[in-house]
Amino acid sequence: MDKDKIITLLNKDLEDEHGAIIQYLSHAYAIGEGEMACEIEAIAREEMRHLDWLAEAIVELGGTPSLGRGKMLMEGKSVAEWMENGVSLEEGAVAQYKEHIKLTQDPKIKRLLRRILSDEEAHHGQFEHFVEKVRQEGTKDLRGTRQDRMAQILNWGIEHEYTVILQYLLQSYMTTDEEAKKQLQDQAINEMQHLGWLAEKMVDGGGSPRIEHTEVDRSTTTGDMLRVDIKTEQEATVAYDRAARETEDSDLKKLLLRIRDHEIYHAEVFSDLLKDEEPPD
Ligand SMILES: [Fe+2]
Ligand SMILES: [Fe+2]
Ligand SMILES: [Fe+2]
Repeated sequence: MDKDKIITLLNKDLEDEHGAIIQYLSHAYAIGEGEMACEIEAIAREEMRHLDWLAEAIVELGGTPSLGRGKMLMEGKSVAEWMENGVSLEEGAVAQYKEHIKLTQDPKIKRLLRRILSDEEAHHGQFEHFVEKVRQEGTKDLRGTRQDRMAQILNWGIEHEYTVILQYLLQSYMTTDEEAKKQLQDQAINEMQHLGWLAEKMVDGGGSPRIEHTEVDRSTTTGDMLRVDIKTEQEATVAYDRAARETEDSDLKKLLLRIRDHEIYHAEVFSDLLKDEEPPD
């Protein structure tokens, strides 16, 4: 199999990891507190590690990691249905990795896919266990319906955070500057925290987080990437500040101001990196 075909195959796996992450995070947030939600979040974190390994492998082969989102099973309204969706999604992942392992000859890629497969088999078992556990709980509708200004603010924040997570991750895979790579990855992880806080706040307030993103920047040089990121962070700072002043909910206000302060920090980190990219003459 030639390089381009392997890249296509790995990008398909990467897209499905992306879908799995969003499916599991959405369900973990909706369930809220408790051991099961924590365990589902831990599974989502393992899928993030898979996504990271696949992206690195794709770049090593000379490809560009896809930003597409693959298969997700989002129907259902109760924990029982969501856990069954988890079982089905993992069944698909196991079958696909087995097939892709057969299709590749490259020993390093084969080894990576086998490593991921062992996790997907374990996840499958975990979701089956969750289905058993919630069987008694019935099918209570857990979907929040809140649609007011607070829900709007939170969904705006979630959309922003999801977009920059993808943007900084892609940039971290594509940049050749090691310090920028490290910082972009660090800030992406911090944006994941923001997304989690906002989504949990939404569920606590009786809403349902809408986890969708807007356009992701595709600059090709580190300088261009950082310039776009600084502007994005500055705009986010203004927007969080405005939203914090607008809300009367004191917990939400505190949360928005905390995130705003992080975004100020991100803009400063990126500005310092940009200075190193363009030494003064
Ligand atoms: Fe999995
Ligand atoms: Fe953020
Ligand atoms: Fe940020």
